[in-house]
Amino acid sequence: MKAGTTPEGTKTEQEASRWVRSMFGRVAPRYDLANHLLSANVDVYWRNRTVARVRDVLRRPDARVLDLACGTGDLLIALERESGRRLIGSDFCHPMLTGAHTKLERERLRSVLVESDALALPFPDASLDLITIAFGYRNLANYRAGLDEMRRVLRPGGALAILEFTQPPNRSFAAVYNWYSRNVLPIVGGAISGAPEAYRYLPESVRKFPDAPGLASLMKEADFQPVEWEYLTFGIAALHIGRVATTRR
Ligand SMILES: C[S@@+](CC[C@H](N)C(=O)[O-])C[C@H]1O[C@@H](n2cnc3c(N)ncnc32)[C@H](O)[C@@H]1O
Repeated sequence: MKAGTTPEGTKTEQEASRWVRSMFGRVAPRYDLANHLLSANVDVYWRNRTVARVRDVLRRPDARVLDLACGTGDLLIALERESGRRLIGSDFCHPMLTGAHTKLERERLRSVLVESDALALPFPDASLDLITIAFGYRNLANYRAGLDEMRRVLRPGGALAILEFTQPPNRSFAAVYNWYSRNVLPIVGGAISGAPEAYRYLPESVRKFPDAPGLASLMKEADFQPVEWEYLTFGIAALHIGRVATTRR
């Protein structure tokens, strides 16, 4: 398995990370529009499902919650609405955070935004109760290092929710979906966002990413236990929830 994402033309983790950050910087102004149009708003259901699955932790009094790779903030906003509390959103792409900031202000929400790399989080060990990451994890330059970093900052009893695209398990459906992703998505996504390379990268990065059972194994190796997961919408996406044991083993 690859250590992390490997966009075409990049050789090192640093190059991959820079490529991802600059690509999202170009996409940022039209990210929401492209997202909602290309998914026919199904992404809203996926984020709501994520919120529902972490409600137990979200509702704990004083739970400290981080939406990692928050982008323009859609999941962060859904999480704050559910909890009614100030949460933290972080991302390493400034233009995406600018989009999130505008939306938080418009909705009169109170969550704070932090510009930081998911592989070097500016939080102490065991300081958070919940981390969510939606469509960000696949873009990390090192998947295991990302999990280790999230595990480091989570408290005993905490939880990690990873919402991510995956390979649909049904082969016939996967064949049609992969054809669409490779041939139609870059043209339509490119036209809407003005960045066709982003929509060529997307299916390529999903293809190289561990499948849903593989991601569950990776999470267990990184000391999340138990790990539960479910496919969403014919297995286009998957939602993984990993828990941190209440007492360190
Ligand atoms: C596809 S967007 C998803 C944004 C948002 N979570 C959502 O659901 O719409 C992926 C985000 O991950 C961020 N990202 C990728 N790698 C990152 C890293 N190493 N550290 C922090 N953010 C990262 C990108 O900047 C981008 O905003």
